[in-house]
Amino acid sequence: MAQQVLATLILALCLSWASAAFNCSLYASTCSGTTGYTAYSSCSDTVAANLGGMACRIYHLGVAAMAGNATEHCPHAAQDATGPCATEVLKSFDCSLYASTCSGTTGYTAYSGCSDTVAANPLGMACCTYHLGVAAMAGNAAEHCPPCRTRSHGLLRYRSS
Ligand SMILES: *[C@@H]1O[C@H](CO)[C@@H](O)[C@H](O)[C@H]1NC(C)=O
Ligand SMILES: *[C@@H]1O[C@H](CO)[C@@H](O)[C@H](O)[C@H]1NC(C)=O
Repeated sequence: MAQQVLATLILALCLSWASAAFNCSLYASTCSGTTGYTAYSSCSDTVAANLGGMACRIYHLGVAAMAGNATEHCPHAAQDATGPCATEVLKSFDCSLYASTCSGTTGYTAYSGCSDTVAANPLGMACCTYHLGVAAMAGNAAEHCPPCRTRSHGLLRYRSS
């Protein structure tokens, strides 16, 4: 639980400038009572990895939160979305994307034990995942690869495995 709170705090810091992001607590509170509900796995990481890429789910969650709409619209806002959001594919932290995006930047060091770190930190890589997503956009690698590599924000706490 403490780890989840920390991940949420990190995400809030990382996203402080972003306008609309998928609201993980709203999804849980709106949808957990509906038939066939499934919780997001690593919701805050998923949000961090998909800034600008969850518009369909955000819209349908907003509609689902209105009275009488949860049963119809929650499945569209789910991680494994149905209906209109089924084609909105989500990304997660991606070790090969880190290597391909960042290996050409000055001072790059490979992410030692990357897949083990990801597996050990299902809720604890929100900041790193967010910066990798931004780094992968054209012209951003030099600026956004280092925070992920050096953990210079000082807020990340990794278990080694
Ligand atoms: C997310 O939803 C909760 C209600 O579940 C609300 O209290 C909170 O303010 C929302 N967060 C944002 C950033 O809108
Ligand atoms: C419920 O969902 C429909 C779309 O399916 C939308 O038009 C409507 O505004 C939503 N809200 C309420 C309160 O019905």
